[in-house]
Amino acid sequence: AFEKVPLKLDINGKKYRLQVEPRTTLLDLLREQLHLTGTKKGCDYGQCGACTVHVDGQRVNSCLTLAVMQDGRKVTTIEGLAEGDKLHPMQEAFIKHDGFQCGYCTPGQIMSAVACIREGHANSEGEIREYMSGNICRCGAYPNIVAAIQEVKNGGQKV
Ligand code: FES
Ligand code: FES
Repeated sequence: AFEKVPLKLDINGKKYRLQVEPRTTLLDLLREQLHLTGTKKGCDYGQCGACTVHVDGQRVNSCLTLAVMQDGRKVTTIEGLAEGDKLHPMQEAFIKHDGFQCGYCTPGQIMSAVACIREGHANSEGEIREYMSGNICRCGAYPNIVAAIQEVKNGGQKV
């Protein structure tokens, strides 16, 4: 085993002081050490987007980044998106527009979709498709995902 190193993180508004192996990815830290299993592991090499989370407000593929590189940062996962028992508007929109089938890609899609709007990259269907292209859906729910994002964008709700 590797020697563990200390790591401080704010995850979904909660402060953590952790000990992690230097080779642990942020994804494995979330899922295996903290049991935040909403974030999914699809490919584990940056090709599917299932593991998308926000770090200091920016979307990242958590399988591609080492946990120790995020020391002191603020991480938001799908578990932290809702406010109490009120779903985030993007979660509501995915439900309304059937933006998922098996649901495996959905947490990553939703985290990416929120970022896509915040980045200002949701101004047209084409732009949404381009900026959501890192999130693969094997079920092909793309038209419904785009519709959900457009609804939130056009509804002008704060994301
Ligand atoms: Fe990270 Fe596929 S699991 S991009
Ligand atoms: Fe099944 Fe996207 S809903 S992979």
